[in-house]
Amino acid sequence: MSMSNRTVVVTGAASGIGAACAAMLKAQGARVIGVDRNEPAAGTVDRFVQADLSDAASIDAAAGRIDSGVEALCNIAGLPPTKGRTPVLQVNFVGLRRFTEALLPKLADGAAIVNLGSLAGFGWQANSGEVRALLEVNRLEDVEAFCEKHAIDDARSYFLSKEALIVWTMQMRWQWRARAIRMNAVSPGPVETPIHQDFLQTLGERAAEDMRLMERAGRPGDIAPLVTFLCGDESRWIQGANIPCDGGMAAHLLCQSIGLG
Ligand SMILES: NC(=O)c1ccc[n+]([C@@H]2O[C@H](COP(=O)([O-])OP(=O)(O)OC[C@H]3O[C@@H](n4cnc5c(N)ncnc54)[C@H](O)[C@@H]3O)[C@@H](O)[C@H]2O)c1
Repeated sequence: MSMSNRTVVVTGAASGIGAACAAMLKAQGARVIGVDRNEPAAGTVDRFVQADLSDAASIDAAAGRIDSGVEALCNIAGLPPTKGRTPVLQVNFVGLRRFTEALLPKLADGAAIVNLGSLAGFGWQANSGEVRALLEVNRLEDVEAFCEKHAIDDARSYFLSKEALIVWTMQMRWQWRARAIRMNAVSPGPVETPIHQDFLQTLGERAAEDMRLMERAGRPGDIAPLVTFLCGDESRWIQGANIPCDGGMAAHLLCQSIGLG
């Protein structure tokens, strides 16, 4: 697989999974534009565009600073539940969607969009009412009122942000078919990055139990190959999919939930 001379925008490129994806895409020959609130380490991206993905003006300005011809967009920046419900829903979903829509005119025909979901988003079917309501929130400044109205606390906000992202990914399966632009999601289980401890803190014994079941926690380098694959032409037939990358955890939870072992 080659990403030679492809221009790829990676949000969250300064840390963890985003940094690993930027490194792998660069190793495959891509020109990586990193978008983050923090500057990535020197040499890890070809260009850095600073942006706060919880702020509409910052999102629009960042999209405006990126030239046309982007062949892939990896939406990887995200916040853990400990950062509070409003920033979590803003960065992980409402701001991500705004940035994607702002960048659409800059995407080349045939471009791939890859969203970082999570195992935490697998409950979308059981929570479709809340998901539908969040999908209708278009303005970042309306997120706090949404949380108040629907009694969303910090812990729930993370799950809901990923549920909405997975559903939006599916809804966009053919949205840009005329331009052959496709969107998919990758959903990791627990991955050892700076925010891993935040998840353990929020989820407590439930997360500890999950970790006991797993052979080991994931590493950013476990996720990057799948994201890179979904950016490339070889994955063109994969559209609107949410693919687990989690050491078997999603399969385990699904089998358990329906009594199939
Ligand atoms: N680590 C895990 O266990 C895990 C599991 C499933 C999904 N994920 C998802 O993977 C993605 C990457 O997480 P990670 O584990 O690499 O975390 P990380 O903290 O290492 O990286 C997150 C990046 O997002 C950036 N970011 C945060 N808020 C921002 C904002 N307002 N504007 C711009 N950039 C911002 C940070 O600066 C950072 O570079 C997230 O979407 C996360 O939800 C992580």
